[in-house]
Amino acid sequence: MSFRILALCLFCATFSPLIRCEKYPEDAESALHLFQSWKREHNKEYQSHVIEQSKFKVFLENLKVINELNVMFKGKTTFGLNHLADLSQKEFSKTVLMPKRRAPVFERERYLRSSHSAALPDSFDWTGQKKVTPVKDQGAAGSCWAFSAIGNIEGLWAVMGKPLTNFSVEQIVDCDGMEDVPKGEADCGVFGGWPFLAYQYVMKAGGLETWEDYWYCSGLGGAPGTCAACPAPGYNTTLCGPPIPYCNMSQSCVTKLDVSKFHPGLNVVSWKAIDENETSIAEQLIKIGPLSVALNAELLQFYHHGIFDPPSFACNPKSLDHGVLIVGFGSEKSIFGTKDYWKVKNSWGPKWGENGYFRILRGQGKCGINTAVTTAVLAKN
Ligand SMILES: *[C@@H]1O[C@H](CO)[C@@H](O)[C@H](O)[C@H]1NC(C)=O
Ligand SMILES: *[C@@H]1O[C@H](CO)[C@@H](O)[C@H](O)[C@H]1NC(C)=O
Ligand SMILES: *[C@@H]1O[C@H](CO)[C@@H](O)[C@H](O)[C@H]1NC(C)=O
Ligand SMILES: *[C@@H]1O[C@H](CO)[C@@H](O)[C@H](O)[C@H]1NC(C)=O
Repeated sequence: MSFRILALCLFCATFSPLIRCEKYPEDAESALHLFQSWKREHNKEYQSHVIEQSKFKVFLENLKVINELNVMFKGKTTFGLNHLADLSQKEFSKTVLMPKRRAPVFERERYLRSSHSAALPDSFDWTGQKKVTPVKDQGAAGSCWAFSAIGNIEGLWAVMGKPLTNFSVEQIVDCDGMEDVPKGEADCGVFGGWPFLAYQYVMKAGGLETWEDYWYCSGLGGAPGTCAACPAPGYNTTLCGPPIPYCNMSQSCVTKLDVSKFHPGLNVVSWKAIDENETSIAEQLIKIGPLSVALNAELLQFYHHGIFDPPSFACNPKSLDHGVLIVGFGSEKSIFGTKDYWKVKNSWGPKWGENGYFRILRGQGKCGINTAVTTAVLAKN
């Protein structure tokens, strides 16, 4: 990847000398000052001097990566330091993203039919209508898929007129060992999974606890109040790989799940998929609520601001590694012309990106954002 970025950089530096890019220092001494203040800002403490040294090396490397990205994207999307700056791109892929996979294809009946009747508004946003809970932080765990599925369910619940509620992501991570053997897919806790299987888990389990009752603790670094998640009942080692070797049963689903705390009235009865046409997706978003989607998020580690519009060779749409939530869409006029975008809720904390959200180009299947769109269906009551 860095070779491709480098190639583009040269192109960019040659052909658009007028774009001014924020540039981080790349010499060790200034970078060290920056590292110290970055550590304070993000409350980073490393267990030993050796670890700190190696983290600084990664940080320095990342300053160069960010500088390259800012040149490559010519200021249309900006990239910057954030709490992920002590992870190499490899570590980021391994601990925050999921193993890369193709979008699943479902039976025909699973897809919602679009009417294409009414004209779409120019913009739409569920966050302004209080149908979206605050942005969460998944930490160093590949649990994005559970955040994505829960975000969809939270939205449907609120769109039904119920009070906006944070539902439990940890319940899904700990308890959902669903699999779809013909498709070769399974939910693997902190090692990735699929929202469409998470909906099936909630149907089978019969409900969800709230976030407050069954709070998130996976991937938060082993500090007090965090946990090393145990494999879910039904965890399929063939499809998921070996589970985390150490498991404290007092932190497992079997011990923690309390069905008497299932939120009254919340009942997932089915689930649906939406086809790849981004006009259909916008229609269904308005009709249904925030939608679960997946994409290739390799280049999003340092996303800061703007409409993300990578060249397609730099963002393979058939290589999905992150689950998120589409909450709205719009168009932005700028010196670069008019661009249609999706507004997407991420789960990397409120300080990442645009207050925890990002925007990505709408209408060109960017990074596969339109290929795995699903929603739960709730019982009306
Ligand atoms: C949801 O959780 C957040 C903290 O993550 C809290 O600030 C908020 O008040 C909770 N409730 C709702 C309805 O957003
Ligand atoms: C796990 O997945 C494999 C491969 O798809 C499948 O053959 C096997 O039946 C699954 N195991 C269980 C216990 O479901
Ligand atoms: C297991 O977790 C419980 C509660 O989280 C804790 O009190 C206990 O010390 C842990 N046991 C071990 C062996 O780490
Ligand atoms: C998506 O559907 C709309 C409405 O039916 C249609 O006009 C448009 O051409 C479709 N787009 C693609 C990329 O197929």
